[in-house]
Amino acid sequence: MCGIIAYTGNRQAAGLLFDGLKKLEYRGYDSAGIAVLNGQYLSCVKRVGRVSAILDACELQGNSGVGHTRWATHGGAEDKNAHPHTCGKFTVVHNGIIENYASLQGELCERGHTFSSDTDSETVAHLLSDYYEGDFLKAVKQTVNLLKGSFALCILCKDYPEQIVCVRQKSPLIVGFDATGAYAASDIPALGECKKIRILADGEIALLRKNGIRLFDFALNPKPLSFTDNRVTSSQTDMGGYSHYMLKEIYETPCAVTHTADAFDVRSAAKLKGEVGRFSHAYIVGCGTAYHSGVTGAYLLEKALKIPVTAELASEFCYRKPLLGKNTLVVAVSQSGETADTLSAVRLAKRQGARLVVITNVSYSSLAALADYCFLTQAGVEVGVAATKTYAGQLTVFYALSAFLQDKSYAFLPKFPVYCSKIFKKSEQIECLAASLARTQNVYFLGRGLDYASAIEGSLKLREVSYIAGAGYASGELKHGSIALMDKNAVVIALVTQKTLKEKSKNAVNEVRSRGASVIAVTPFTDIPCEKTVLLPVCPQKYYPLLTQLPLQLLAYYTAVKRGLNPDRPRNLAKSVTVE
Ligand code: M6R
Repeated sequence: MCGIIAYTGNRQAAGLLFDGLKKLEYRGYDSAGIAVLNGQYLSCVKRVGRVSAILDACELQGNSGVGHTRWATHGGAEDKNAHPHTCGKFTVVHNGIIENYASLQGELCERGHTFSSDTDSETVAHLLSDYYEGDFLKAVKQTVNLLKGSFALCILCKDYPEQIVCVRQKSPLIVGFDATGAYAASDIPALGECKKIRILADGEIALLRKNGIRLFDFALNPKPLSFTDNRVTSSQTDMGGYSHYMLKEIYETPCAVTHTADAFDVRSAAKLKGEVGRFSHAYIVGCGTAYHSGVTGAYLLEKALKIPVTAELASEFCYRKPLLGKNTLVVAVSQSGETADTLSAVRLAKRQGARLVVITNVSYSSLAALADYCFLTQAGVEVGVAATKTYAGQLTVFYALSAFLQDKSYAFLPKFPVYCSKIFKKSEQIECLAASLARTQNVYFLGRGLDYASAIEGSLKLREVSYIAGAGYASGELKHGSIALMDKNAVVIALVTQKTLKEKSKNAVNEVRSRGASVIAVTPFTDIPCEKTVLLPVCPQKYYPLLTQLPLQLLAYYTAVKRGLNPDRPRNLAKSVTVE
């Protein structure tokens, strides 16, 4: 969580930093700040609110600066906790968590330091100031070697107005340069016009100067530095005429699916296939939407691998001390590849000898770097906090991989874009349904079999962007408790796509209707007893999870909009959850 950015060069820094922060806002939007050095004169604007709240920072003069957009962890969303944090000659922006900040602060207080925020991050500025004897890099070295936890840092020092020091340890940071100077940012889209970039590795320190970048390890030994081409274009990260990123990204689903299927890495799949015989159990781990794709993935992979495959919440996985070893396959799913809970689960699995498959949208992510086999979703940059097209990409990898492992054609449904366009034609109907949902207190989603994952995912999407309470239930579980919730105020979205389970699903629908609930069915069948139907196109039944999510995402989107909310920036959330 949190986005950080830095620039030093020939241009005025503030405007560049502001534009970059807008691209990083998906990482958190509790407060924002920019500090700029003009010679030895530091000026800073920071306050609670989204990046637009610091528009006046663009007036700051100076060629070196750092910026931050925050998702609060330590200390509430208050002006005093907004970054950058300054102590003496040092100004710092931080993404991550300094786990030992309390003991470090205790020692610093004994040495006369006083803190003006409630953050863990301010500790870094104080340590730098405490150790500084005139050598910027040396102070950074002494400081970072004391820190425990995760940290990406960009640091200004008044004595070195044309330099910025950047540090990466378990939080992403990318450096790059253009003809005017050097940049660093938490994610590539914020790197402006940089054509050449370098993803820093854990334990690296980068020294940014207008005419180049130097790289060191934490002992300040120089490291060789090579750059790769930056392929992210601004058209991938702008709204392209849509009113919100979420809507744009839902409409990008057909491309996400076809690109992911086209780019399916057959060589990795073949290598994996060569060793599947040794696995006795597979776990799929992920959080939120990524976990939901794993629930479908478990259905598909169990058939392909012919061993038990279970989907597990990454945030719970470590705590139940699962039985892992050389015979275990772990499949980690994550759009960002930076989710802390998923990384912890994966590190545990690797320590215990498990093989690791990673499904991610970010080729340069921490998770991708740990993978034995990495399958990329080619969904393009996803800016909206709600996962939409990337969910489809993750499902596509599961479809392709399970087909490949069974020697079936992994070429994806050629008609998928046609099915999508049939669903998109229903957007007006869905918008009307959203208008009535927007006035509802509780919405429940029901599904059985493959529809269960769609039910829990549809429910998460609606809760996340519209703040309407509710849950997704396995239809068969209703009568074991949750049916007590059903009355005339309840709205139920019933997902019924599997022919073999249709009659059982109809029973559940009848049961909730006879308790007064009104039912919206999302189904290709025309005989589901309900108040309203969103009719899905007829397609091979195992692919319905891919189709069902589209009307559910649109429903969540329009409901949020009807409630006057911004679906791209739901409260309290950030896109990339890099804290456990
Ligand atoms: O980057 P990841 O896929 O690991 O993120 C996991 C979840 O935080 C994420 O899927 C979250 O649930 C979505 N924002 C929901 O739309």
